[in-house]
Amino acid sequence: MKKYFFLAFASLIFLAGCTSKPVKTIENLKAGIKGETTASAKYAAFAEKAKTEGHDTIAKLFEAASKAESIHAANHLKALESLGEKMEDFKPQFEVKTTKENLQAAIEGESYEATTMYPQFLADAKTEKVAKAEKSFNWAFDTEKKHLSFYKNALVALESKTERTLAYNYFVCPVCGNTYDKATVSEKCAFCNTSKNKFITI
Ligand SMILES: [Fe+2]
Ligand SMILES: [Fe+2]
Repeated sequence: MKKYFFLAFASLIFLAGCTSKPVKTIENLKAGIKGETTASAKYAAFAEKAKTEGHDTIAKLFEAASKAESIHAANHLKALESLGEKMEDFKPQFEVKTTKENLQAAIEGESYEATTMYPQFLADAKTEKVAKAEKSFNWAFDTEKKHLSFYKNALVALESKTERTLAYNYFVCPVCGNTYDKATVSEKCAFCNTSKNKFITI
């Protein structure tokens, strides 16, 4: 009899383990959706500001990054919903300053995502074994590292008045948000293998 009690108890523990929610990853996906949606709206506003200040190439970069962040937000949302969860409403909050300050703010934001936020989210998703979230976080993580480098170059160009050397066009992968300039665009997306002819031209 004791043996059956033990077996029933062990099965309950096992079932509880199987059905327990990946609490950390759910929280991280929500924070990621909020962060990416805010970044997308912020960069769109920064692009408008750059246009009014005559920084056309920098405006293009902000537009491309804005598109990429909206794809990351959509991917995180799909991952969240696949866990049976819903995203609550929120309003993106940000400030628009001069283009130089906006670039500095963008560099800070991307640095945080690339060095702190996504590495932690990825570690949690691995621990909680949420493959869909891990994939979505990885695509965003790898893209933010590229955005960081684009923004740093743009700030140097702005400060040295060599903005004309920056790209006039960007290509954004509609599946993973990977962002390319003309010099680095490849036939297939380096992150998700999507064909170049599907890329969004900015
Ligand atoms: Fe980014
Ligand atoms: Fe891609």
